[in-house]
Amino acid sequence: MDGPIGMFDSGFGGLTVARATIDLLPAEDLVYIGDTGRYPYGSKPLDDVRSYARELARSLVHDYGAKAIVVACNTATAAGLDELRAELDVPVIDVVRPGARALVATTTTGRVGVIGTVGTVSSGAYVRSIAETGVPVTLTSAACPGFVEFVERGQTTGDEVTVLAERLLAPMVDAGVDALLLGCTHYPFLARVIGDVMGPEVTLVSSADETAFAIRRRLAEAGLVRDIRSASGPGHHRFASSGDIDVFRDLGSRLLGPELDRTEAWPPTHDRAAPGAG
Ligand code: DGL
Repeated sequence: MDGPIGMFDSGFGGLTVARATIDLLPAEDLVYIGDTGRYPYGSKPLDDVRSYARELARSLVHDYGAKAIVVACNTATAAGLDELRAELDVPVIDVVRPGARALVATTTTGRVGVIGTVGTVSSGAYVRSIAETGVPVTLTSAACPGFVEFVERGQTTGDEVTVLAERLLAPMVDAGVDALLLGCTHYPFLARVIGDVMGPEVTLVSSADETAFAIRRRLAEAGLVRDIRSASGPGHHRFASSGDIDVFRDLGSRLLGPELDRTEAWPPTHDRAAPGAG
């Protein structure tokens, strides 16, 4: 099947999932939308985030012909995964369950932590997904407001980020977790600071790689995988943004790598309705 994998996030965070997906599935075409015009999602009511997610997912299917949708955003997964699955005819892959599975597989003491946006943490999505794994663990969760804003500004190291991280991660340090899930796709870009604050004994778990494996599994189940051995060459990667496309290209290429050499406007020009319309 020839359609691209369609992926979206509120902004740059889902690029961590895009990177892992491009590396694991090099023959697949990919269309990524960063909704930077409406970011952040994490502090918005989940109803608003749900309607953004539906709009983006529908656009990926109808405007770009996506054969599968990857919700590369924990907050959008927490807000609207069930609706997207009910509404769309294509496979929908999320980041929360792969992350939960990776977290419980990593811990040796059973004391685990999850950090995410206010929306994700307050939704209880990780509490449910970790319970679904059936692995008995003691979970400490904390919202980290401010982390996403640093990433969106391209500020991923330095004193300001470190001071905020020390304050927000104190409950994790106090709880003595041995595995900490970065439950927001923006957070792997802050992994150096988060790792320094948590110390070398704590393993940081990012859902990006696990999600890429989940994508490969789901595509295989649906008979939709494009194999590099039979494909005519590497996949094409398109990146679109609802915000400033030059800023998206410049910071995005720094964060993702050379595949992000241009950015298109979203919504696409043949349908230039303002985001939120329709
Ligand atoms: N990257 C997103 C997530 O995984 C949301 C960031 C935001 O817009 O607040 O939750």
